[in-house]
Amino acid sequence: MAGEETHKGRDGGGVATAEESLSVTDNRTGQTYEMEITDGTVRAMDFRAIKVSEDDFGLMTYDPAFKNTASTRSEVTYIDGDAGILEYRGYSIEQLSEHSTYLEVAYLLIYGELPTKQQYERWEHDITHHTYVHENIKKSMEAFRYDAHPMGMLLATVGALSTFYPGSNNINDEHEQCMAAVRLIAKMPTLAAFAYRHNLGLPYIYPDNDLNYPENFLSMLFKMAEWKYEPDDRLARALDVLFILHADHEQNASTNAVRGVGSTQVDPYSAIAAGVSALYGPLHGGANEQVLRMLDRIGSTDNIPDFLEGVKNREERLMGFGHRVYKNYDPRARIIKRHVDQVLDVTGKSPKLEIAVELEKRALDDEFFTERKLYPNVDYYSGLIYEALGMPTAMFTVIFAIPRTSGWVAQWLELVGDDEQAIARPRQVYSGYREREYVSIDER
Ligand code: SDX
Repeated sequence: MAGEETHKGRDGGGVATAEESLSVTDNRTGQTYEMEITDGTVRAMDFRAIKVSEDDFGLMTYDPAFKNTASTRSEVTYIDGDAGILEYRGYSIEQLSEHSTYLEVAYLLIYGELPTKQQYERWEHDITHHTYVHENIKKSMEAFRYDAHPMGMLLATVGALSTFYPGSNNINDEHEQCMAAVRLIAKMPTLAAFAYRHNLGLPYIYPDNDLNYPENFLSMLFKMAEWKYEPDDRLARALDVLFILHADHEQNASTNAVRGVGSTQVDPYSAIAAGVSALYGPLHGGANEQVLRMLDRIGSTDNIPDFLEGVKNREERLMGFGHRVYKNYDPRARIIKRHVDQVLDVTGKSPKLEIAVELEKRALDDEFFTERKLYPNVDYYSGLIYEALGMPTAMFTVIFAIPRTSGWVAQWLELVGDDEQAIARPRQVYSGYREREYVSIDER
């Protein structure tokens, strides 16, 4: 990337060496095959050597939803799901949420190292001076209904950015990579705030370069007739910590979407738009919105036992609980829960917090959840803070997308620089009809 240490590519990480091997015997032929075990994995392509005849295609691995498949090597984020550990480039989120800022974490994710003072000042200057979007993007927002979901508006406008920066098609050009990183991180809050103001029929508020990243976002959301928006430092800091906690999470569904789309060598704006689309889903980033709707439906702690019975009868899910990787308490949920109390001290108590705390307690006392290792995840408490900050429920996932943009960019850069990668094109097990004869419509 232009003018900075480039992130460590595979050459920085070195080539993996085999530790042990696997002996696989094909009972169809009695043949035994040796497969190298590297970093706790075997290469799926090694199974192709297992054949029953020369013209046999060979074996594939079958793994719907990639529940047990590593799709890449990565140096960006480390998660230990059993121990509840999350580290960005080796730094724990506990340390980063205590001492860092989101913009510094975004730099760390993208460049692989914490910035020096000079690097940080240059980075913050660049982000601050790229927060505006082309006026035509703003005009395009007018095409949406007043009640369009802001995530739908965000995914459309992020994709539209690709039409304003055709140079970004040169995905291996370091300057273009750097500009795409800066533009995407800088413009996400602007696009998010414009979508929010569109929903309310309010004039759009332009970025205020005197404010820091979270303060500027609050200003673009909430500034009204006053000359200058004056953010509450405590609320701006709480938002910045939420941004840090949501910045990356290794190969989650939206990052997988960014990498899958990015593997076709499309521009980064289009690849990140795919991430926004995936995050929109209620099983992923959309869960924070669903948690608040769930707490509203429960309405009172008296209704918790009936609600949990409904969950156990599979009538609905306990949104904000469970995780593909964490089989323990999501470390982000623990930190967010601490900040809920701090924010509510400023904004006033929320009846939903009492329901959420009691619901968590009852669920964690119930073996249906503990047997399935279902614990609160990042989405369980975050919505309570967003609501306390005055955000409407429909904006919650948009706010998740803002910081996740730096993680998506870091993962996209790693993909582009990884010579092991190619266009993502999985195989299938075909279970449909074969060689059917066409029948004319009169004879069907
Ligand atoms: C995020 O991947 C990431 O890193 C994502 C994320 C990130 O930072 O990018 O961490 C952000 O997306 C957090 C997750 C937010 N989603 C929710 O809170 C939605 C509710 N949670 C689930 O739908 C579910 O737990 C998932 C989607 C998060 C994980 O699904 P899995 O790993 O595919 O697990 P599963 O659906 O196979 O469930 C295993 C069992 C099943 O029970 P059985 O049918 O086998 O008896 O647990 C049950 C499920 O029914 N289960 C739940 C449940 N989650 C799983 N039952 C009730 N409530 C739930 N929330």
